[in-house]
Amino acid sequence: MMRAPSESAPPPTLAVLFIFIFLFPTIATCQSKPQPPTPSPTSSPPSSPSSSSTLDPKQLRALQSLNIPTSKDPCSKSAFHNATTCDNSKPFRHLISLTLSNCSSYVALSFTALQSLSTLQTLNLLNCPVTPIRFPPELTSSLRTFTCINSLRKVSGVWLSQLQNLTDLAVTNVQVKASGPYVILAHMDKLKTLTISNANLTGFLPGHLHSDLTHIDFSGNKLKGTIPSSITMLSGLESLNLSNNNLSGEVPATIGDLTSLTTLSLASNSFSGQIPGSISSVSGLIHLDLSSNQFNGTIPKFISQMKSLRHLNLANNNLRGVLPFNQNFIKNLDVFNVGGNSNLCYNHSVLSSNLKLGISPCDKYGMPASPPSKDSSYADDSSDYNDSDGSSNQKKGHHSGPNKFVLGVAIALSSIVFLIVFMIMCAKCCCR
Ligand SMILES: *[C@@H]1O[C@H](CO)[C@@H](O)[C@H](O)[C@H]1NC(C)=O
Ligand SMILES: *[C@@H]1O[C@H](CO)[C@@H](O)[C@H](O)[C@H]1NC(C)=O
Ligand SMILES: *[C@@H]1O[C@H](CO)[C@@H](O)[C@H](O)[C@H]1NC(C)=O
Ligand SMILES: *[C@@H]1O[C@H](CO)[C@@H](O)[C@H](O)[C@H]1NC(C)=O
Ligand SMILES: *[C@@H]1O[C@H](CO)[C@@H](O)[C@H](O)[C@H]1NC(C)=O
Ligand SMILES: *[C@@H]1O[C@H](CO)[C@@H](O)[C@H](O)[C@H]1NC(C)=O
Ligand SMILES: *[C@@H]1O[C@H](CO)[C@@H](O)[C@H](O)[C@H]1NC(C)=O
Ligand SMILES: *[C@@H]1O[C@H](CO)[C@@H](O)[C@H](O)[C@H]1NC(C)=O
Ligand SMILES: *[C@@H]1O[C@H](CO)[C@@H](O)[C@H](O)[C@H]1NC(C)=O
Repeated sequence: MMRAPSESAPPPTLAVLFIFIFLFPTIATCQSKPQPPTPSPTSSPPSSPSSSSTLDPKQLRALQSLNIPTSKDPCSKSAFHNATTCDNSKPFRHLISLTLSNCSSYVALSFTALQSLSTLQTLNLLNCPVTPIRFPPELTSSLRTFTCINSLRKVSGVWLSQLQNLTDLAVTNVQVKASGPYVILAHMDKLKTLTISNANLTGFLPGHLHSDLTHIDFSGNKLKGTIPSSITMLSGLESLNLSNNNLSGEVPATIGDLTSLTTLSLASNSFSGQIPGSISSVSGLIHLDLSSNQFNGTIPKFISQMKSLRHLNLANNNLRGVLPFNQNFIKNLDVFNVGGNSNLCYNHSVLSSNLKLGISPCDKYGMPASPPSKDSSYADDSSDYNDSDGSSNQKKGHHSGPNKFVLGVAIALSSIVFLIVFMIMCAKCCCR
């Protein structure tokens, strides 16, 4: 009952209280009624009795060699929390998906086991520090999805490059040794999603990429050089994460050709020059992170017209001039950060200093006025998260005045209501 006042104005609160008045006697007299049982989640159809395994015995043995218990039918849905998926072939079913997670250190992949598992289309290794071995050709040709997170200790680009039929590749927190991403990707013609992150991958972004790619995440590597046109030609690209590398140069104007893009992160590189105006044609952008680079020039005005934007981080660059955003635009974002741009300022007749933007107010020439000493601690800290938190705290702070008032009224009213109800009950008792 106390939840309602926190967001709504007095009239709805009163309505709630009136409902309360009418319902309370009923509730009070009906307390002993049994609660209706909460509806149970859609019950699954009765599973067929899995007295014996329906899985191909060869594959069963392969699973056993990987330390996977097979006392339960690996093809039954509940067997290992989705670690396995089987097809429906007869007389025996075959595995099409296998997830190995948290392997004990003495699990070893053997060539013969993998050969028996060559029906797999999906292989996921999560926290499995097994030693990589050469995959049998049957397996490399059948695999469509390969995920390797914090597993296999270390892989080479050449080893990965054999998986030429992949549509989805994700390698994270694994050292990948290659002279560049092209070694891995040269023959992966069917790739749609590509993640090679936190892998200490060196070299340059590849000069050729297959055009079906929708997601690219090369974050957390040691890639250098500029953004090649091979990337800006990927017309279906929805997400591009190049953060935490050693990339440099200006972002090509052709970045605006990526009209399907919803996520663009170039954070923590050495990109320079202006924020390209062509980004205005990427109208579906939700997440834009250009923080911790050397972008200069002013913040383009079109950004304030990007309707889908929810996350905007331009912190720690060399941006200058007057911030082109109003209060509404900033409040509609989940994350907004422009701190750490010493020549950037905000117009104090447009934006309140309470927003704690981490930048100084402008003087009448549009230059940062000497920062007030209290704000400067925010400005110079360049702490990424404080500013966004600051703006959301501000939202709460803004509402807190009215809230307290509404809460007070609500408490007073409910006390009166309780009194009335109490008197009614008393009256009823006395009548009996
Ligand atoms: C198993 O997969 C289903 C559908 O893919 C999913 O809804 C469920 O949460 C998964 N269960 C576990 C334990 O991962
Ligand atoms: C693996 O370990 C992590 C953390 O120890 C745990 O959260 C996760 O549930 C484990 N996964 C499986 C499939 O046991
Ligand atoms: C990819 O799969 C097809 C069949 O789906 C197969 O004919 C081809 O040999 C495979 N390619 C490689 C490089 O394994
Ligand atoms: C990447 O290199 C750094 C330093 O050389 C090292 O600390 C880190 O563990 C490496 N990352 C991986 C995933 O191997
Ligand atoms: C980009 O990658 C970094 C590091 O892996 C990650 O923290 C960040 O959330 C990613 N950004 C997006 C938008 O996915
Ligand atoms: C990044 O590249 C610059 C040259 O462009 C080089 O001086 C620097 O050492 C590189 N940093 C890392 C971490 O590789
Ligand atoms: C912005 O950066 C570019 C590229 O580093 C440089 O050529 C240009 O002079 C810079 N402009 C300003 C105003 O600093
Ligand atoms: C600040 O905003 C006011 C009102 O919109 C405008 O008149 C003034 O020129 C702006 N100041 C600067 C420095 O942009
Ligand atoms: C900024 O954030 C750090 C940790 O993220 C925290 O320790 C510090 O107190 C915050 N400062 C302010 C002013 O909120």
